[in-house]
Amino acid sequence: MNRSFIVNGVARELMVADSQTLADMLRDQLGLTGCKVGCDQGLCGACTVLIDGVPVAACSCFAFMVEGAKIETIEGLAPRGRIDPVQQAFLETGAVQCGFCSAGLILSVHALLRQVPEPDDATISHWLEAHVCRCTGYTAILNAVRLAARRMARVTA
Ligand code: FES
Ligand code: FES
Repeated sequence: MNRSFIVNGVARELMVADSQTLADMLRDQLGLTGCKVGCDQGLCGACTVLIDGVPVAACSCFAFMVEGAKIETIEGLAPRGRIDPVQQAFLETGAVQCGFCSAGLILSVHALLRQVPEPDDATISHWLEAHVCRCTGYTAILNAVRLAARRMARVTA
């Protein structure tokens, strides 16, 4: 049946089966393939998107459950092809290698920095514990979050 969503600020009306996951809807119907499906079991964080600002594993969420919600994907962070400060920080600190985990991580970092603009290391680690990265090691990711937080705090100061 047709259901309404707001995806990256745009209202969408989509035919969605009750069994369809949010990840499949984003990837297959909207072409938003930045939402990566890794484990498909809610265990790796690769498919994370923001639902009304909250990180959610899109592989483990039926699309109909988020009808009417504001959905943010990685594509929404760079609408005109200019990467945002968190993406920039990930690049500069070497926190991206294969990139499979990056979209989910970067969206989670956005959610964190909106709530806690200057998080300490323990807060960052706790917030990101649902994310698995097989490439960079977590030190580079921690450095990326620290850098993004510093820059974003400066902009809003
Ligand atoms: S693909 Fe969704 S949590 Fe791993
Ligand atoms: S950069 Fe490859 S899994 Fe994280």
